[in-house]
Amino acid sequence: MAKLLAHARYIFGALALMLAVAVVAPAQAQQPSQVNPTASSVNEQKLLDALQAPGPGGGGTISGRVSIPDAKSGTLIQPAGQTWRQFHEVTLHWIGAIAILGMLAILVLFYLVRGMVKIEGGRTGRTVVRFNAFERFVHWMTATCFVVLALSGLNITFGKRLLMPMFGPDSFATWSQWGKYAHNYLSFPFTIGVVLILLMWIANNIPNSTDMAWIKRGGGIIGKDHPPAYKFNAGQKLIYWIVVIGGGLSAVTGYILMFPFYGTDMSGMQTAQVLHGSVGALFIAAMIAHIYIGTIGMEGAFEAMGTGEVDENWAKQHHSLWLEQEKNRVPSGATPKATPAE
Ligand code: HEM
Repeated sequence: MAKLLAHARYIFGALALMLAVAVVAPAQAQQPSQVNPTASSVNEQKLLDALQAPGPGGGGTISGRVSIPDAKSGTLIQPAGQTWRQFHEVTLHWIGAIAILGMLAILVLFYLVRGMVKIEGGRTGRTVVRFNAFERFVHWMTATCFVVLALSGLNITFGKRLLMPMFGPDSFATWSQWGKYAHNYLSFPFTIGVVLILLMWIANNIPNSTDMAWIKRGGGIIGKDHPPAYKFNAGQKLIYWIVVIGGGLSAVTGYILMFPFYGTDMSGMQTAQVLHGSVGALFIAAMIAHIYIGTIGMEGAFEAMGTGEVDENWAKQHHSLWLEQEKNRVPSGATPKATPAE
């Protein structure tokens, strides 16, 4: 009897255990884990305290250990990151707005005061070849890429604030995704264009004493004076170097952003972004001025990149030394460079 009772104890015990497992296991499977995930590691208050804590390595830093190979993901918040965010969300907006809107305001004012710079004495009807087909192709390829890069870049900086409230998050997301593809892929022809521009025109863009005289006389656009210039005057040389240096910097910093952490650390990425955004904003402002002079700012200028030929009087007014060079290159009697306009 005593033996039977002893066995019954085991049997009851086993049944009770099975019952407990049967009831508890499904209930636990449906409910969140009962283990407090922050109990042995960190809680929100500790994180906030760490953010406020003074001293080196303390203030503004939240970091810990991670079990994945990417060790830098163990830093959640760091002072440089906060400085960078302030730049991206506030400072860059000011740089962009002041540079771009400021340039537009100056040009509108300038146009109202000075108006279009006319060809004095009118057109002769004779034209001079200024840019060949290859030069014009490179110019327009680079310019088209630049406009798309500028618009898609500005969308990254300002779109969330300016466009998202107007179009709603879904349309803005689709538009931004296409903008991002365009920004990434057009960077390649743009870079090729900048390199070709560097090689094609460098010989004509080395600063010389003529440029100093041109600047002292206010160029052809300020006042009514027309100081002599070779193929490119000091103003155009400035644009050339802005394109070469600005384009070069945009490309280097842009590819660092496009291929993150290849040979750069977190602070390298932040520097690249700060430079890319700032150079981009200033570059856009400079190109707006270039577009102004090439279109409504100066009569006869657009033709240089349109048909590739300019009127002789235009050339005499703005590039007298270059016109002389061109005329001297032509054998006497023949006029292959100066042809009557249709
Ligand atoms: C080779 C040329 C270029 C490359 C490789 C490049 C690449 C990039 C990349 C990867 C980004 C970051 C995009 C993101 O956050 O997802 C970016 C942003 C940006 N890019 Fe470019 N880009 C180039 C040229 C330009 C040019 C020419 C401009 C201006 C005309 C420009 C203006 C901008 C602007 C304003 C931003 C946004 C900055 C920000 O708010 O963070 N980029 N670019």
